[in-house]
Amino acid sequence: MEVIVTQNAQDMSLTAARVVAKVLNTKPNAVLGLATGSTPLGLYQELVRMHQDEGLDFSQVTTFNLDEYVGLTRKHPQSYHYFMYENLFKHINIPKQNIFIPSGTTDNYEAFCQWYEQRIVECGGIDLQILGIGSDGHIAFNEPSSSLGSRTRIKTLAKQTIDDNARFFDAPEQVPIYAITMGVGTILEARRLLLLANGVNKAAAIAATIEGPVTSMITASALQLHRNAMVIVDRDAASQLKMLDYYEWIQAKMPDAP
Ligand code: GLP
Repeated sequence: MEVIVTQNAQDMSLTAARVVAKVLNTKPNAVLGLATGSTPLGLYQELVRMHQDEGLDFSQVTTFNLDEYVGLTRKHPQSYHYFMYENLFKHINIPKQNIFIPSGTTDNYEAFCQWYEQRIVECGGIDLQILGIGSDGHIAFNEPSSSLGSRTRIKTLAKQTIDDNARFFDAPEQVPIYAITMGVGTILEARRLLLLANGVNKAAAIAATIEGPVTSMITASALQLHRNAMVIVDRDAASQLKMLDYYEWIQAKMPDAP
């Protein structure tokens, strides 16, 4: 796993935006996997800026989001549909028909989940999957004990996740209990993974992800099995890494590497 330690959350976002821009410049019709949450907000802001100021083009890009709350309509301000349109899609030139987000209001979740998986394959698979991480080490909504081979399905949220996400809702009882989420197995099939984390409340989860055993109790640790996974963290999120000096040494020596 490649570990990049940045000075702060803003540097993390700018570094991630450069990775995404490079993918789009090399492959204008790339398929991106996208995440929600507060962590990727700075990345999306920078992508919008690159689109507006530098002409970064999304006209051939396809996107698949990781997850959605069950029961929230697209117009609900806390739905991930709403989040994505407000923070990214409405500011860039991506065609609407190229945007895929799991439905939180379908009347047949099983059929929808199968269709979503199939749609990813039909679009050629995900070139670059952006990921955040929950404080309990989850990716997307793959809570502790999720199978590392899991596919898109309904998950019951853990109490910790409901508590963490309650800050976005008016009252904790309003946080949905179920979500539809890509599985860990779905995520691992992306050609590249890019996990972002900032803040001290992510430090333990990041240390477990990078340096702990591969375990379904920290679903992000499955990134250790991927051949092209990069983690970009700020200093706070990196603060519990035992090998921090080594990762920084690698970064410093990178320009001269054969
Ligand atoms: C939710 C999302 C995850 C996200 C996590 C962390 O659980 N399903 O995809 O990584 O929140 O969110 P934040 O970035 O706000 O800490």
